Amino acid sequence: MKIKNICCIGAGYVGGPTMTMIAAKCPHIKVNVVDINNDRIALWNDSNVDNIPIYEPGLSELVGQTRGKNLFFSTDVNAAIHQADMIFISVNTPTKTYGVGKGMAADLKYIELCARQIAAVATSDKIIVEKSTLPVRTAEALRSILDNTGNGVNFDILSNPEFLAEGTAVTDLLNPDRVLIGGEDSDRGRAAQQALVDVYANWVPKKQILTTNVWSSELSKLTANAFLAQRVSSINALSELCEVTEADVNEVARAIGSDSRIGSKFLKASVGFGGSCFQKDILNLVYIAQTYGLNEVADYWEQVIIMNDHQKRRFAKKIVKTLFNTVSGKKIALMGWAFKKDTNDTRESASIYVADYLLNEQAEVVVYDPKVTSEQIYSDLDYLGTRSHEENRRLLKVVKNPLEAVHKAHAAAILTEWDEFKHFDWEIIYNNMLKPAFLFDGRILLNHNELEDIGFNVYTIGRGE
Ligand code: NAD
Ligand code: UGA
Repeated sequence: MKIKNICCIGAGYVGGPTMTMIAAKCPHIKVNVVDINNDRIALWNDSNVDNIPIYEPGLSELVGQTRGKNLFFSTDVNAAIHQADMIFISVNTPTKTYGVGKGMAADLKYIELCARQIAAVATSDKIIVEKSTLPVRTAEALRSILDNTGNGVNFDILSNPEFLAEGTAVTDLLNPDRVLIGGEDSDRGRAAQQALVDVYANWVPKKQILTTNVWSSELSKLTANAFLAQRVSSINALSELCEVTEADVNEVARAIGSDSRIGSKFLKASVGFGGSCFQKDILNLVYIAQTYGLNEVADYWEQVIIMNDHQKRRFAKKIVKTLFNTVSGKKIALMGWAFKKDTNDTRESASIYVADYLLNEQAEVVVYDPKVTSEQIYSDLDYLGTRSHEENRRLLKVVKNPLEAVHKAHAAAILTEWDEFKHFDWEIIYNNMLKPAFLFDGRILLNHNELEDIGFNVYTIGRGE
């Protein structure tokens, strides 16, 4: 079967970039990306491609090349479902905030709504692709909804989890380490799997396209994120030990990373991992293990989250302790709000928690981030529910200029590893700050010897003072 028309439900950080890449590499396929969020779709359709709703290096250029040719963004979900041979479900699957599994399980209500809508609208056979990250065995629930509420047409369900990282989405999609496609063990299932293999084979070498059963594919996505986050928590655990033993965490990371069995990637100690998925997916894995009664398995993975929470908290505590045990009324500049560089995404960013901790200590927090809007920053704080909307706006300021952030500040803290921070004139910054001027490097980003020569008191993750 040759795919000619693809629909993707969900125009977010995954749906937008992945479908843009498919459209760019498969000019013979028409790709409709649909979403219920009118504002988001309007931005994807903005005449100025620089205004697309997601900041990713190289993405706006790619959208500019394909939009209106074979890539379309719309809110007409039914029309796109109706036309499609293959439908990707790429909606959000956040942690449940209510009921059974609250705070742990993935909330599958958006997935179920999609399945019900597809079943109601489809009048021809469709291949349904799980692109969202889902608990293992979700395809079983999808099949039940599709088969019991549909119009008698055939549905084939594939699992095709996405492994792109934000900030490098375009290069990750262009040169993926692997594409994973899980399919059902039947003639129809294998044919559907092959149809999706053929789509990716337009640019991904065949040996990098892995096919498995549906359950392995669903579980591999949660496992990949759990392993990646576990490495960060492992090195962060060691960073605390380094700080009290005169070992240097970067040197330890280099030493262990040179062992080819360990490998050098994902060993950068930090103020703690953020992002929409690591925490959510591990909590989901823990919850799944618990529901099967596998308590040791659940406890093992939960420790990755416990260590990450500890790392964020101890960084904030360190600021207060170093500033003579009080930050009340003291201006502290937070440099960076995004959860990593080269993205405007702030979900679960360590900055949110560090800011909240400092605000509780009555600090005067000022934030500078090159890509995140002030609306987003306030909405992240409001979401925590620690204090009122008005108080958050009164106590925390967002500025567009780094010098304004540090002017008369007692301390500056690096929370996102933006390249531009490395190129700041730190001497000018030092001259603008109150003395003693403290610098807390939560990303081990800057040249600390140079900063100390300028006069800063520097604290960094993973190295004693
Ligand atoms: P997102 O919140 O940016 O986008 C999801 C979109 O789906 C939203 O725009 C929302 O309006 C839309 N939506 C929800 N229900 C809908 C419905 N019934 N009909 C139409 N549109 C609907 O989320 P995201 O970051 O793109 O993540 C999507 C999925 O991909 C999640 O399961 C996530 O775990 C997974 N994932 C994310 C990343 C990442 O880097 N963000 C990477 C790999 C996998
Ligand atoms: C992560 C995975 O890397 C992707 O493969 C996956 O598709 C995605 O989650 C997902 O499922 O959403 P992402 O969260 O976009 O991607 O970004 P990462 O580069 O993994 O960084 C996550 C967090 O860990 C960031 O806060 C980053 O600063 C932190 N990190 C990463 C470290 O602190 N140290 C490291 O060595 C690496």
